[in-house]
Amino acid sequence: MNFRLAAIALTATLLGGLVALVVLPGPREQVTRALPSTGKALVGGPFSLVDQTGKAVTDKDFRGRFMLVYFGFTNCPDICPSGLQVMSAALDKLGPKADQVTPILITVDPERDTPQQLASYVPSFHPRLVGLTGSPEQIAAALKAYRVYAKKVEDPKSSAGFTYDHTSIIYLMDREGNYVAHFTHATSVDRIAERLAQVL
Ligand code: NI
Repeated sequence: MNFRLAAIALTATLLGGLVALVVLPGPREQVTRALPSTGKALVGGPFSLVDQTGKAVTDKDFRGRFMLVYFGFTNCPDICPSGLQVMSAALDKLGPKADQVTPILITVDPERDTPQQLASYVPSFHPRLVGLTGSPEQIAAALKAYRVYAKKVEDPKSSAGFTYDHTSIIYLMDREGNYVAHFTHATSVDRIAERLAQVL
């Protein structure tokens, strides 16, 4: 009798434990919840580059404004133009609020994308689009900070004989330079504009 009671009690305890495991969030989930949503971004960070007018700029020059940051290069045949187009169209769609956002193209091809080259390229997408380049080391540091993959590869179709494989991500960073969200060249203009409207 006592054994049976003990068995029932044990079963109940085990079942209770099982239910608790299923219902209660696991340690990992709790950790995620405990993280503040405004915590230090895993993406982004300091950069030191040169803009399309030849002026040295750092990430700190953009504090107080949101940034839409896209990594690409001016000789890119299709993906980069798409990314820059949706980025620009989303800003146009936002209207006057868009003034709080600085759209930025950081080149992955500093060899060809000189400030002069960027100056002739960026205005065709948006009048405020900032083009940034720098030394190979400066660009490598920016790529690393934003976790962007970019690799020079042979391309017989290109007149230069090479092109770049690269990540096509548009990063939205807040006024302190922290990561907020990301999109791709395939994200709809409406979606980007909506997300911007939420945070501005
Ligand atoms: Ni591209």
